[in-house]
Amino acid sequence: MRILPASNVGVLISGRGSNMLVILDAQARGELPGVVRTVVSSVGSARGVLAAHGRGVPVAIHSYRNYPNQTAFDEAILETLRRAEVEVVVLAGFMRVLGNRFVTEFANRIINIHPSLLPAFPGLDPVRQALEYGVRVSGCTVHFVDEGTDTGPIIAQAVVPVLPDDTHETLAARILEQEHRLLPQALGWLLSGQLEIVDHRVIVHSS
Ligand code: GRF
Repeated sequence: MRILPASNVGVLISGRGSNMLVILDAQARGELPGVVRTVVSSVGSARGVLAAHGRGVPVAIHSYRNYPNQTAFDEAILETLRRAEVEVVVLAGFMRVLGNRFVTEFANRIINIHPSLLPAFPGLDPVRQALEYGVRVSGCTVHFVDEGTDTGPIIAQAVVPVLPDDTHETLAARILEQEHRLLPQALGWLLSGQLEIVDHRVIVHSS
């Protein structure tokens, strides 16, 4: 299935927001074929909230604990995204699970950045998982979000060597550099209508 071009982006964050910022930077340079209409944070005090304000992007805070259940949480975020006419959702360090209802409404229009070479080390703290396992290479993955945890079709990956003296901090920083390159690139492909999903595989068309 070829994914149709889109323009309006919503970015979901929970923390520092550096991946959100590289998307906003790409937009400011005229290199993103779309516009970030809104940022949603699941954490009110997240550094990314201030950063988004600084760029003049509307920010909505939806903290899970303010809702009675997953459905209400999902619905609140969906309502924010609908109001902003968002067509494509980017999970950029968003630390909450989204329910099936959310994934269905934005089917094949949600992407996530994960700091490991999926399907290795899904879930929480993949950098620690990679170090503990002793792999020689790790990296990052941009993938479509489906109902599973980090299981959706893979759009792009970058490999990062794991060095003998790596700590969590040094490896995470080296992977983050690649995230910052990969995420705007993959988002650009999605917005320009260059992606096709065939079974579980993603084909990147040149135009
Ligand atoms: C990134 O490593 C991302 O892959 C992970 O959480 C981190 C978020 O960083 N899911 P930032 O908030 O974009 O700076």
